[in-house]
Amino acid sequence: MTARIPMGIVMNGVTGRMGYRQHLVRSLLAIREQGGVPLRGGGRLWPELVLVGRNEAKLRDVADRHGLTDWTTDLAAALARPDTAIYFDAQATSEREKAIGLAIEAGKHIYTEKPLATTLHGAVELARAADAAGVRHGVVQDKLFLPGLRKLDRLVRAGFFGRILSVRGEFGYWVFEGDWQAAQRPSWNYRAADGGGIVVDMFPHWHYVLEQVFGPVRAVTAHVTTHIPRRWDEDGQPYDATADDAAYAIFELDGGIVAQINSSWAVRVNRDELVEFQVDGTEGSAVAGLRRCRVQHRASTPKPVWNPDLPSTDDFRSQWQEVPDNEVYDNGFKTQWEMFLRHVAEDAPYSWDLWSGARGVQLAELGLLSAREGRRVEIPELTGGEPA
Ligand SMILES: NC(=O)c1ccc[n+]([C@@H]2O[C@H](COP(=O)([O-])OP(=O)(O)OC[C@H]3O[C@@H](n4cnc5c(N)ncnc54)[C@H](O)[C@@H]3O)[C@@H](O)[C@H]2O)c1
Repeated sequence: MTARIPMGIVMNGVTGRMGYRQHLVRSLLAIREQGGVPLRGGGRLWPELVLVGRNEAKLRDVADRHGLTDWTTDLAAALARPDTAIYFDAQATSEREKAIGLAIEAGKHIYTEKPLATTLHGAVELARAADAAGVRHGVVQDKLFLPGLRKLDRLVRAGFFGRILSVRGEFGYWVFEGDWQAAQRPSWNYRAADGGGIVVDMFPHWHYVLEQVFGPVRAVTAHVTTHIPRRWDEDGQPYDATADDAAYAIFELDGGIVAQINSSWAVRVNRDELVEFQVDGTEGSAVAGLRRCRVQHRASTPKPVWNPDLPSTDDFRSQWQEVPDNEVYDNGFKTQWEMFLRHVAEDAPYSWDLWSGARGVQLAELGLLSAREGRRVEIPELTGGEPA
């Protein structure tokens, strides 16, 4: 049997949606089920998990469900242990900065959900502190590992589009208000003081997708609003939704690429997937979702003629061709965990660091500034850390 090389990971926020499902169950426990992460020099890296949370009963329940025994409500104690090497944070966003700061002070490598912090200042301070402490650091950028986005990236690298002109993104779905049907997202998402808001939540995703698939984002113009001002929380109590729940934004990228992305929790889905990006280029176009990606080449582009007097005879959607998978796609969160663990264990390359996370927070902050002041905002380069 190949040797197991243990790696202690403090997991904070495992009672939450993302911490539990994607990071604990679908990533780290799945990695254990497959026997660990094989390392270049032989042996298999084996995650040893220390679960951390605020609520003892919930934490015990999660641990029991998976036969885990190492858990605590004392973060400082978990960080003080010499057998923990990595701190992972999937807490509610407002709690993140302080906890990561403590973990850096304790000399732990950092892996975290996005957004890295609620302010650019906070995010940059964390990135600087992590560099100064000499620890490894990474931010979850799961959308990059989705089959649909991987295929889109493949098309870009292959030069399929010719000169890329524009990207149109539609993201969102109806999040119930919580009165007559329970809301399917946590209530803190709709309270500004608790780190909520669709801009803070989604612009970091849009940032890494745009930057890494198409190029650096140079300017933002956003209109941001709260369509549903009153919601009901997990206990059925009404509250004021103080955070934005929809953002209509234009991002300007290098090469004159215009990306326009609508993000909304107050939209009903009439798409194939919950997020879709249409990319138009001189040589061809593509529509990518979470899993699928379809293309239309210049040579097979139909020639519609505008005539509202006649019913359309074109079935436009059938005029696109499916991009094949050509490979097996594992869960994106798990894939990124494996890469980060190899980065820590054997110095494997890894570019999705806290600086990349800070650039995402910067885009959110400047998007909100653009909306507040009703103007286009240019995005200055962040000093420290280079774009991936
Ligand atoms: N990568 C993605 O696609 C993705 C998707 C959704 C959420 N997220 C991020 O993951 C993080 C967690 O989001 P979630 O949807 O799992 O939230 P959630 O409310 O389900 O979980 C929040 C977790 O934080 C803990 N917590 C600690 N202090 C808290 C406080 N003061 N208020 C509320 N919870 C507190 C909770 O106990 C729980 O474990 C957020 O930062 C969010 O931005 C990422």
